[in-house]
Amino acid sequence: MASTMPQPLLEQNSADLVARRLSQGADAELGRALATVVRHLHQVVRELRPSPKDWRAAIDFVTEVGHASDERRQEWVLLSDLLGVTQLIEEINVQRPRGATPNTPRGPFYRADAPKLPLGFDICLDGIGERLSVTGHVRDLDGRPVPLACVDTWQANPQGHYENQQPDLQPEFNLRGRFLADEHGDFHYRTVRPAGYKVPDDGPAGELLGRLGYPLFRPAHLHFIISAPGFDTLTTHVYDRADAHIGDDAVLAVRPELLGDFQRVGAASGGVEWSVDFTFVLARAQGAPAGRATRFS
Ligand code: BEZ
Ligand code: FE
Repeated sequence: MASTMPQPLLEQNSADLVARRLSQGADAELGRALATVVRHLHQVVRELRPSPKDWRAAIDFVTEVGHASDERRQEWVLLSDLLGVTQLIEEINVQRPRGATPNTPRGPFYRADAPKLPLGFDICLDGIGERLSVTGHVRDLDGRPVPLACVDTWQANPQGHYENQQPDLQPEFNLRGRFLADEHGDFHYRTVRPAGYKVPDDGPAGELLGRLGYPLFRPAHLHFIISAPGFDTLTTHVYDRADAHIGDDAVLAVRPELLGDFQRVGAASGGVEWSVDFTFVLARAQGAPAGRATRFS
């Protein structure tokens, strides 16, 4: 005789049902991780109670994010950055010792193939902007110099655009370069003062969040990746403390330790001159002996 008992509503046990199925495979860890995602997803659905049309719109959005991503543009990374997930993952994983310069997201405009340049070089290749002189010091947690660190830097121009966003307007490798710090862990180069900018809002991530009034501006900054044998590689920013958007960075990556003072040092014949001086503190890699840096890779 057929049972007259009603089926329990899926709404009550949906996540448990899926979690049980996910725990049956060979990769228990992946199954558990996916079950956690599913549990939260089902909870969101119970809470928001989307109509099938709403759910379809959500699926269309993530489809668009995928279509907007290719080898030149990574819309998923932008979405992760804008929702604060990239910075959160960084902070969960990289427990830096007190005093070490914080890591921040690399962002989408990095190029790994920037030229190696001599100290003092001017990385502004089109001569447009207010001159900025950057001096930096790479130190360990005890304040000792880290000699011969590799310093990879990139930045936006005074209009807030990176060279690879404007391949037809800016010279290739404009405002990028790799330097080798000297024996005392010091480096210097010339550039122009960067402007803050709006993150790309012509794709689904920026378009949706912009429509919701989400702050899409990034305060003016210089990017750095600093590496030396025996130390954890540092990926970070130096922000212009005076920027109007310093308190509402779109990607939630401003930290007090990363505020730089861009100081006006005069008006040379060609225009206004600025300088910024910053000390980067590297943490020793776990288990690494206190060795000397010798490589520029
Ligand atoms: C950047 O600073 O280059 C950046 C970082 C995250 C998202 C967008 C831009
Ligand atoms: Fe940037």
